[in-house]
Amino acid sequence: MDLLIKNGKIVSAAAAYTADVAVKGEKIVQVGIGIEPAPGAKVVDATGKLVLPGAIDAHTHLAMPFGGTVSADDYEAGTRAAACGGTTTVFDFALQDFGERMEDTVKRREEICAPQATVDYAFHVGVKDAEGNLLDSLETCVEYGVPSFKVFMVYDFGVTDGVFYRVLERSKDIGALIAVHAENNEMVNMFVKRFLAEGKTSAWHHYLSRPEFVEGEADERAIAWAKSLNAPLYIVHLANKQGMDAVTRARNEGYPVFAETCPQYLHFTNEVYKRENGRNWVCSPPIKGEASRDALWAGLLRGDIATVATDHCPFLQAEKDWGLHDFTKIPNGCAGIENMYPYMLSEANKGRLSYSKVVEVCATAPAKIFGLSDQKGAIRPGLDADIVLYDPQKNFTIENALMHGAGDHTVWEGVQLKGYPAATYSRGALVYQDGKFLGKKGAGRFVKCKPIRITGPDISNIK
Ligand code: URP
Ligand code: ZN
Ligand code: ZN
Repeated sequence: MDLLIKNGKIVSAAAAYTADVAVKGEKIVQVGIGIEPAPGAKVVDATGKLVLPGAIDAHTHLAMPFGGTVSADDYEAGTRAAACGGTTTVFDFALQDFGERMEDTVKRREEICAPQATVDYAFHVGVKDAEGNLLDSLETCVEYGVPSFKVFMVYDFGVTDGVFYRVLERSKDIGALIAVHAENNEMVNMFVKRFLAEGKTSAWHHYLSRPEFVEGEADERAIAWAKSLNAPLYIVHLANKQGMDAVTRARNEGYPVFAETCPQYLHFTNEVYKRENGRNWVCSPPIKGEASRDALWAGLLRGDIATVATDHCPFLQAEKDWGLHDFTKIPNGCAGIENMYPYMLSEANKGRLSYSKVVEVCATAPAKIFGLSDQKGAIRPGLDADIVLYDPQKNFTIENALMHGAGDHTVWEGVQLKGYPAATYSRGALVYQDGKFLGKKGAGRFVKCKPIRITGPDISNIK
């Protein structure tokens, strides 16, 4: 063994117990009580600390061309920030070009990502074009190690209902999982046109152009199609009660429907859009009202939210300011990659949910759902030594100046956390300790995911 983490409290998705963790090279080799250090092994005393699997952020947009610019964190800055927030694997969205085979989309992004990434990464493909034999490239992409695909019901590159249905239909046979950004595009466009004509251009009108039912109705439609095919469906960045209720109903009926929400939807309400700097929170779907926030928390505690991920897509203040007098010009997206695990763990530390639940939704469940549970997502012999030491005693107030990405502001500014990650290991290497990034550019690796074959709402049987 090379590293022995002693006397920490290991948290799994099911339990918390005091034990030691031995690491050799990149892997966890033993978990147990009273493990003796091998000669030369580094011993870390984790008394008083939690020992957690590194988080898996299943939803990030690094260096993504979007909203007339490119998101502010490239693969180096984004993964550096991830490491400093206890996230050791990021799923990035590789956006397909029209006419491009999907495995080529991944290869194109991999070339940019590989020399930069400081922690491990995987991809989902953002599908724009599934005409002709491009539909077949879903399968070659699965074979390449990317079995998850996102379709957008909105934006100028969103797919038609027919393409969405055909992609869903094909996914079942080839071990793919379709994720959806669900909002009703027609309604958004109608509201936007109306508000602009009326001179209503503030960030609050971003929310009003995409209110609860605009997302909820699209969730219901997407679920109806998935149910008709009995195809698994993953709803990304769920932010509304109507959709939460629809997900719960489908799951109660036995359908493999999964929902992801994000910390910004759990923490803030739409009141942020009334602030002077409300444009900084502009993302799609927008943050909703109190009833939706409550429903998301209830769904999370009940087990109907499968994962929490960030939708990290930061833009610089000057870019957000493009929309000072016109909300349609605000690039959509916020920072969060460094804040997800600390925020969720702090909520656990404050008593809102258990640490095990946080580990489940931020690490173990995304590993299971996206086909990498034989590599990541738990503290278990044979898995990658992606480990976070968490100090429940350390209080931390989020400030952009203390963050490690490339952003110049954060919507999380001033939020007070109880407890904070003290150290992060990525495949056995120390990449973060006590506020300092210690990792290396290019050390992150492409994680290939297995085909996804989920037939019901319960993923506890996936090893
Ligand atoms: O506002 C957001 N969410 N920006 C990123 C793109 C997306 O829809 O996920
Ligand atoms: Zn989206
Ligand atoms: Zn997104």
